[in-house]
Amino acid sequence: MPSMLIDDDTRLLVLTGAGVSAESGVPTFRDSDGLWEKHPFERVASLDGFIEDPALVWRFYSQRRAGAKGVSPNRGHTALADVERRLGDRFLLVTQNVDGLHQRAGSQRVIELHGSLWKSRCSVCARPPFADDAVYGPERLPGCKVCEARGAFALLRPHIVWFGELLNPADLEAVASFLLEARGHRLVFLAVGTSGVVFPAADLVRQARALGAETWLVNAEPSANATAFEHLVLGKSGEQLPGLLGS
Ligand code: OAD
Repeated sequence: MPSMLIDDDTRLLVLTGAGVSAESGVPTFRDSDGLWEKHPFERVASLDGFIEDPALVWRFYSQRRAGAKGVSPNRGHTALADVERRLGDRFLLVTQNVDGLHQRAGSQRVIELHGSLWKSRCSVCARPPFADDAVYGPERLPGCKVCEARGAFALLRPHIVWFGELLNPADLEAVASFLLEARGHRLVFLAVGTSGVVFPAADLVRQARALGAETWLVNAEPSANATAFEHLVLGKSGEQLPGLLGS
């Protein structure tokens, strides 16, 4: 079983995708029977889809909230939380997942690149995103209380980065400053459970390599950008990560 050298000089940047939560029972997007097979993403994960049919969109995210509430982090999540405890600020986890399982496993330095299932925000006003685990049905579409207090009606929306929307610039800056601070040190980039087709996340391996990083991919199958990695570990993250990260 391969094992990654993690010494006192190592800075470890990790990117995770839906595959890391698969063993917890959270569906992935592009595997057979994945979410995008049953739910066309243009309808449930785009602003146009939300404008057209907010009830359908809220049903999709309500089902995902309900599903994610009943699952637990797996050994892959735990291995990442363990290595963070060893590395402290020399570790950063960038996740495309919105399920919150990394945080529930104990990860603290987490950037949720695609938002969070556990937050909502107003689709109109600039009120910051707020904690919300409610399940909304077609008969109960949520309105913004701040807008309501001003005598206007506006729908709440999930705090998810939809197709065609920009990532939070502060998140990208946090990744860039981690990479900047890693200069002159041993940098390792590890991607786990991601198909490597959604940008800019899929481009992180190239950025890390340009800075001299050692690169690892742990995935159930070769991802679209697998050839960009030096080390490929084929397998389930819950089975591979504990050994790879020495936890
Ligand atoms: P995908 O569903 O595209 O890819 C999941 C990857 O994980 C696939 O390559 C699987 O082979 C692999 N996999 C499945 N089970 C695994 C396991 N137990 N261990 C390791 N690997 C496993 O998911 P993402 O790459 O995360 O965006 O998708 C990226 C983004 O596309 C998502 O964040 C989502 C989606 O559209 C938004 O919704 C904004």
